[in-house]
Amino acid sequence: MVASPIRQPARTIWLEGRSICILDQTRLPHEVVTRRLARVEEVAEAITMMQVRGAPLIGVTAAWGMALAATQGMPLARARELLAATRPTAVNLRWALDEVERAPDPWRRAAEITEEEVGRSRAIGEHGLPILRAAHKRERLEVLTHCNAGWLAAVEHGTALAPVYLAHEAGIPVHVWVDETRPRNQGARLTAWELGARGVPHTVIADNAGGHLMQKGRVDLCIVGADRVTRNGDVCNKIGTYLKALAARDNGVPFYAALPVSTIDWSLESGAEIPIEERDPSEVHTIEGVRTTPVGSHAANWAFDLTPARLVTALITERGVCAASTAGLAKLYPS
Ligand code: MRU
Repeated sequence: MVASPIRQPARTIWLEGRSICILDQTRLPHEVVTRRLARVEEVAEAITMMQVRGAPLIGVTAAWGMALAATQGMPLARARELLAATRPTAVNLRWALDEVERAPDPWRRAAEITEEEVGRSRAIGEHGLPILRAAHKRERLEVLTHCNAGWLAAVEHGTALAPVYLAHEAGIPVHVWVDETRPRNQGARLTAWELGARGVPHTVIADNAGGHLMQKGRVDLCIVGADRVTRNGDVCNKIGTYLKALAARDNGVPFYAALPVSTIDWSLESGAEIPIEERDPSEVHTIEGVRTTPVGSHAANWAFDLTPARLVTALITERGVCAASTAGLAKLYPS
């Protein structure tokens, strides 16, 4: 484990010899700690502990886990089982496991998946940029995002934040309202950190503030990532996304989800069948390790929710922008 002063490495995951290096995201924003993973068991642990998280990055990390398993001499079917059990909702994980399991060379396929994911993030940014440009009608462009769907959730660029970074680089005065995202605070800890490191103006808000800001006309558009999108365009994303989409609809604010093809679950017609991760209630009971609920109270901790396609203005993918519908997705992905 290596701790260093606050400095962003070029990528969230990289290779050193036959080990995988990751940024331990549980240590951000106060320190940048990298971890070296040499065995598939360590990869499974890093995903389970959310040292790596975010749908595209979970997929890429699992792909490297399969490569390590091959070198360890572990049968890939066993490695697959181990890695698939880490987190249930982001479909990128299973997508990447399938890809590597049927590849003749796991190391090569994991490297390809990594590069492909970087390319998809870049393309999502390019397709999303015109939407942000068109929405910029006043002094600053006000964007609201939920959780972390930036560089830290991918390998580079991100998904929802990829167009934001391009807009910022293009000189559009973009400001981001960052939902804190209880209980794990991915917005407050991670999105704020990565936006800050790239000089993008942002303000962290309590999770319940978004509706108020939209009512006051202080949000031009919402853009979120996704952990799984089904054939009909339903979007499963971090818990609380649905409430933002409802508030956006009620206030006439466009609501976009940005995602790569690895997030689309073609096997499911609609989102009702998506398994929603339930995490340890202790994450709700406590804030930064301090218990806030009375002893004896129960807590429940659903990590994701479903935003029905009808509330989504459009999906931004690496192939372009489409309606959140079966027909819309089929147009971009005919096969
Ligand atoms: O539980 P996490 O942090 O892995 O969840 C990630 C998210 O839900 C993000 O909101 C995101 O949109 C999906 S990853 C681009």
